[in-house]
Amino acid sequence: MTSGTAPIGIDDIELATSHHVVKLDDFAEANGTDPAKFHLGLGQDEFSFPAPDEDVVTMAAAAAAPIIARSGTEGIRTLLFATESGIDQSKAAGMAVHSLLELPSQMRVVEVKEACYSATAALQAAVGIITRSPGQRVLVIASDVARYELDTPGEPTQGAGAVAMLVSANPKLLEIEPVSGLNSADVDDFWRPNDSTTAIVDGALSVTAYLDALTGAWTDLAAQGGPEMAEIDRVLYHQPFTKMAKKAQVHLAGLTGEDLDTEIVAGGSGAAGTDVSNVAAAGPRDTGLATSTLYNRRLGNSYTASLYAGLCSLLDHDEDLAGKRIGLFSYGSGSVGEFFTARVVPGYEQHSRRQAVTEALDARVPLSIDEYRALHAAELSSAEDVSTPKVTAGPFRFAGIKGRARLYERA
Ligand code: CAA
Repeated sequence: MTSGTAPIGIDDIELATSHHVVKLDDFAEANGTDPAKFHLGLGQDEFSFPAPDEDVVTMAAAAAAPIIARSGTEGIRTLLFATESGIDQSKAAGMAVHSLLELPSQMRVVEVKEACYSATAALQAAVGIITRSPGQRVLVIASDVARYELDTPGEPTQGAGAVAMLVSANPKLLEIEPVSGLNSADVDDFWRPNDSTTAIVDGALSVTAYLDALTGAWTDLAAQGGPEMAEIDRVLYHQPFTKMAKKAQVHLAGLTGEDLDTEIVAGGSGAAGTDVSNVAAAGPRDTGLATSTLYNRRLGNSYTASLYAGLCSLLDHDEDLAGKRIGLFSYGSGSVGEFFTARVVPGYEQHSRRQAVTEALDARVPLSIDEYRALHAAELSSAEDVSTPKVTAGPFRFAGIKGRARLYERA
């Protein structure tokens, strides 16, 4: 989007995740399931799982801290915290991040909610703020812990992660274009009642609701005068599991009549990482489906952060993005879909975080299935004062509950 002549978009981006990981090979063995069901059927190899002293705040602060260290706080007057897994019904989780990062008092700090879509709403709001005040910068953080009931089909698609984005004029990474395709429909495909720590989901309906939202958003993008598919070089999707991105790509190919690549990386824990060798050099047009799903198949679902974790993966693994147009499809159950586009800024590759992200993914401590199930079942009540055990190797920790308030500290 332009304000006068200055483009507005993502100037810096960081991905953080949790201390623990559950390997889907272990999960398959414990459940007597064929591991191919997860690696190929869902396109997932592992999922991140928080330690008892981690949550959406600690991951969010860990993601934002390096950005603040690099860029300082000048001009940052807004922090938008997007999450489905908020920690309080009233107070924005971003307040704890504001405190942990010692951000200036002269800021507005707000939480934004609409399932997995809300980070995109926050990003667009940030663009609006900067359009009015081009000297300002906005810190947008998407952070979520995806939790389903044990022994349900959603369980292997859990995950945890946070993506922090600094939005500014003249960004170094991505210039967001002004036209968006939008689609809202009241549907009960996935939701989380106020008294539940796990999501309720109608899996089959959620998949069709996602694809219906893609149809609606794509159709609206065209109606709003947006680019045609032939003018879009790469496409990113919300990735509740990476096979969903493949389903979306097949759907978009059908909508547009274009021959698009539909291969995600072949499964198996050994494939987790950067192997894109099974992507054909010729044939259907490569729009980055394989490169944009590499991080997510190791993170699991990170709800609001998932689309932007896909963006991190694409930026870190595709060396031919300078000046290219990316289409981004954001979906949040309930439901909202938005299809918008952005241009990659030449020089983006100088800001690759691939090594740091890969190290963070590799450093996660595996949980046995018994340990994971025990942690999953352990729920804290705000009614009791409690100190959490020191487990996380991350820079910030959830220290416990006192007087029904959550306490955070530097680790
Ligand atoms: N080898 C290879 N593939 C196998 C296999 C094997 N041994 N066994 C099964 N499969 C394949 C199946 O053929 C199927 O493939 P297709 O989808 O291409 O048909 C795939 O594995 C999944 O298997 P099932 O159809 O048996 O489905 P499931 O019981 O695993 O449930 C799910 C799938 C409904 C998506 C479930 O994981 C779920 O409820 N997830 C949470 C909801 C979700 O993520 N929905 C996505 C859209 S909503 C959204 O995007 C918002 C959000 O973040 C939640």
